Amino acid sequence: MKKLVCVLGSPRASGNSETIAMRLADRAKELGADVQVFRLEELTYKGCRGCMGCKTESDECVVEDDLKPVLNAVASADAVVLTSPIYFGQISGQLKCFVDRTFSYLVPDFFKVSNPSRLNPGKKLALILTQGDPNESAHNIAPEYEEIFRFMGFETYSLRGLGLGAPDDAAKRPELMRQAEQLAERLIS
Ligand SMILES: Cc1cc2nc3c(=O)[nH]c(=O)nc-3n(C[C@H](O)[C@H](O)[C@H](O)COP(=O)(O)O)c2cc1C
Repeated sequence: MKKLVCVLGSPRASGNSETIAMRLADRAKELGADVQVFRLEELTYKGCRGCMGCKTESDECVVEDDLKPVLNAVASADAVVLTSPIYFGQISGQLKCFVDRTFSYLVPDFFKVSNPSRLNPGKKLALILTQGDPNESAHNIAPEYEEIFRFMGFETYSLRGLGLGAPDDAAKRPELMRQAEQLAERLIS
């Protein structure tokens, strides 16, 4: 059975990014996946503190907080979904702190080796980003995060929801729901 882990980075429960992710998760379950969901807003944690403990004394993040089980779940997943609203042109602070802690997935000499990742190969990752601005050219930050996660060894995908202001806007957009289902099929194949 494939394991899908969703890490939700919006503080709004049942908001746009979460609605899209939950449609993806439902389709993944239909396809036989085991789905685990973490809502970052409900957890107590900090960003990476740059202590280098994951490079010198351990092969995992040495910070003991609520993010540890999330990092472990992502490390053991076949597929991962990360979600965030666009806040001032960037991912939410909640998700950024998580992303920084994934530094622990990299080996000590990650710039000098051909495989910088500690993760097993073959993992897939999808980024779901929602924003109020309807313009496709505004805040197109998905490529830079896809590049980070490709460097970590993931096969990466992204889905952007544009022009989504009110928390229930995504639910009214059938094309986004279809894209979420198609993404599930790519992740769990
Ligand atoms: C603090 C804050 C900053 C925001 N900044 C932007 C922005 O820079 N560009 C944009 O298009 N939308 C911006 N938005 C709108 C959200 O990205 C948009 O409503 C998104 O769909 C929310 O997703 P969610 O319901 O999953 O939280 C901002 C919203 C908040 C609360």
